[in-house]
Amino acid sequence: MNYLEFFHLQEDPFGLTPDLNYFYPSKMHNEILSSLDYAVEQKEGFSLVIGDPGTGKTTVLKIFMDRWKDRAEIALIMTPRLSSEELLQAVLDDLNIHIDTANKNEMIKLFRDFLINRSLSGKRVIIIVDEAQNLSDGCLEELRLLSNLETDKEKLLQIILVGQPELQKRLHSEGLRQLDQRITVRATMRPLNQVETSDYITFRLIKAGRGSAVFEEKAKKLIYTISGGIPRLINLTTSRALMVAYLGTSHRIEKKHVLDAAKHIPESQPGTVPRRITMRYGATTLLILAVIFLSLISYHALQTDTNPPPTPNIAKVQDSSTATTTQPAQPAPPAKKAVTDPVKSHAAVKPEVPEKREKKATVIVRLARLREGPSFNADIVTKVSRGASFPVVDEWTTQSGNKWYRIKAPDGNEYWIASYIVRIVSPDQLP
Ligand SMILES: Nc1ncnc2c1ncn2[C@@H]1O[C@H](COP(=O)(O)OP(=O)(O)OP(=O)(O)O)[C@@H](O)[C@H]1O
Ligand SMILES: [Mg+2]
Repeated sequence: MNYLEFFHLQEDPFGLTPDLNYFYPSKMHNEILSSLDYAVEQKEGFSLVIGDPGTGKTTVLKIFMDRWKDRAEIALIMTPRLSSEELLQAVLDDLNIHIDTANKNEMIKLFRDFLINRSLSGKRVIIIVDEAQNLSDGCLEELRLLSNLETDKEKLLQIILVGQPELQKRLHSEGLRQLDQRITVRATMRPLNQVETSDYITFRLIKAGRGSAVFEEKAKKLIYTISGGIPRLINLTTSRALMVAYLGTSHRIEKKHVLDAAKHIPESQPGTVPRRITMRYGATTLLILAVIFLSLISYHALQTDTNPPPTPNIAKVQDSSTATTTQPAQPAPPAKKAVTDPVKSHAAVKPEVPEKREKKATVIVRLARLREGPSFNADIVTKVSRGASFPVVDEWTTQSGNKWYRIKAPDGNEYWIASYIVRIVSPDQLP
């Protein structure tokens, strides 16, 4: 009996290829799809969808294309490592515009005729570029020029760029400002939250025939912690957990199955599964030691400080219900930094690791929460005291405009902290 038969499933519920039938529409997905619909209906020029690997960008694109397939001609460019000429050819090809010329002016003329013709018949023409972070500046410029094809009244072409966060950064650069200014709709794919992750797992199981697999709540919670709510990592972890349960002939998927599953997820997978697992569970002892060590250092430092009563620098948190009660920002005290800074304290234990000149986030409130994800709904992992300073490895602005920093903690793991409770020092400002 194979794994699917064992669980009475008709097909693999957690495949890694984007599949329309398995599309789980969270509120965020619906909002993004509505924004794109709006952009195309209103004939806005450029739209931009940004998201980390595995968050579901290509999946959303497929849904969007399906929604528009009868009302639009769509060119989908999936491999944008092209020269600007190749890009134009690929677009014409995908739209079934036959060209027997290599002359660019003639190609553009053909394309314009096509656009006018489709516009007269009430159809939209859309170019979608997936993995658009791989487009060269030349190609982005080419797309900008194409978007200038318009009549006196309206734009003839809508362009949707989809890519990873570095695309957004590139678009802010001087050379691409003109294009950036033409973007009217911007959307960000964020990871699922814990409730959505749990719903997502159930949803996909139902789609695959429901079957007999029963997930313990704790197992689902752990999948969320491991995957950070990134659908690709949820699929990977969940499908391995099912496999582990199957090998143990259990229809009930428990936390131990998920833990075991995480060990078999290759290091090279996008995301941070193995590292998180190592931190949270594989090396729990190490973590506890680190917490005790840092707490002691912090406690000692604060004892000798003139500030309010000491709080351990890092403390394991059980309850996330106080998530939004973080105190307002206050100026950082003249802290005894060499002692209170857990990063530096950690470096003192491992002197062979040279300290890098990185952008740093320093906590400016009495007690700040480090979270699993860039959201006030994300689990709180630890609390850190004012003055604690961490290298910043990434940042994220949510759809509601809240900025978060992903920081590296002394235990080597990465967590998120809200931007308004830290002060940022860039490498050139460091002494
Ligand atoms: N909303 C969703 N509903 C169901 N499955 C999803 C959803 N979002 C993502 N997935 C699943 O997660 C996996 C990754 O999704 P997808 O390939 O769309 O991500 P991506 O952001 O395009 O990744 P990359 O940046 O690597 O191209 C796929 O297996 C897909 O089926
Ligand atoms: Mg993709």
